[in-house]
Amino acid sequence: MAVFVSALAVARLAKTTVTTKVRNLDMVRTRSDSSWDLFHERHQPSGTLGDKESVPDAVEFVPANYFAPLDLTDVFPRPGLLEVDLGCGDGSFLVAMAQKAPDRNYLGIERMFGRVRSACARASRASVTNVRLLRVEISYAVKYLIPANSTSAAHLLFPDPWPKKRHQRRRIVTADFVAAVHRILVPDGFFNVATDQPDYFASICELIPNSGFREVSTERNADFPLTTFQKRFLTAGAPIYRLALRKTV
Ligand SMILES: C[S@@+](CC[C@H](N)C(=O)[O-])C[C@H]1O[C@@H](n2cnc3c(N)ncnc32)[C@H](O)[C@@H]1O
Repeated sequence: MAVFVSALAVARLAKTTVTTKVRNLDMVRTRSDSSWDLFHERHQPSGTLGDKESVPDAVEFVPANYFAPLDLTDVFPRPGLLEVDLGCGDGSFLVAMAQKAPDRNYLGIERMFGRVRSACARASRASVTNVRLLRVEISYAVKYLIPANSTSAAHLLFPDPWPKKRHQRRRIVTADFVAAVHRILVPDGFFNVATDQPDYFASICELIPNSGFREVSTERNADFPLTTFQKRFLTAGAPIYRLALRKTV
């Protein structure tokens, strides 16, 4: 029970009293940046902007219940194949993917408020209706919130590297994590991993045999938009290590 409670704390239990399911952060980008203002804006019910700019599509999804798997029909306005971006940062990859495939749905998972806000603003500016942001821990989302067999592609692009030896136990990719991603994917679902850390990459590769994934060519990735961190690494001339996997069983 202790473990369960702690995981739920990570999932921002404080928000369970909020019943509004979808919240729009587009208003935030047009206003002051102070935490207090942001707090008030985040807690205004939709549609209270008066004669301010009209609210386009809602972007951040706030589950009414963090104890149950998401009902994807509540999350997105239209049904479609689901792709998730685990640690989506400022949402540049997420939104660019959503623009390329408007018939698919894109869910970004990110724990940092500022980055969720940037991603929401980016999605609103792009006027995409197939993007939602969920501010929650990645591990919690893949273990408990994203329904089993629901996701056609999971992208884990440049997860926090934790390069120091003593911090490496904080790295997100473990055998449990790989199993949780496997759980959410549909059969033949795609798991797309990239990192700039060679030792992290090697440790991820070691987890793949007997995980229910097979390695496939990374050629498809050439069509993917660049992420913000990828651009930084490319500019710095840093090598990028990629793994493309498909769920087999
Ligand atoms: C290095 S950045 C990469 C961002 C983006 N994928 C890119 O390539 O530009 C890693 C992102 O994952 C987020 N993140 C790291 N660990 C997380 C966790 N456990 N739960 C949710 N988000 C996490 C960080 O806040 C950060 O935005």
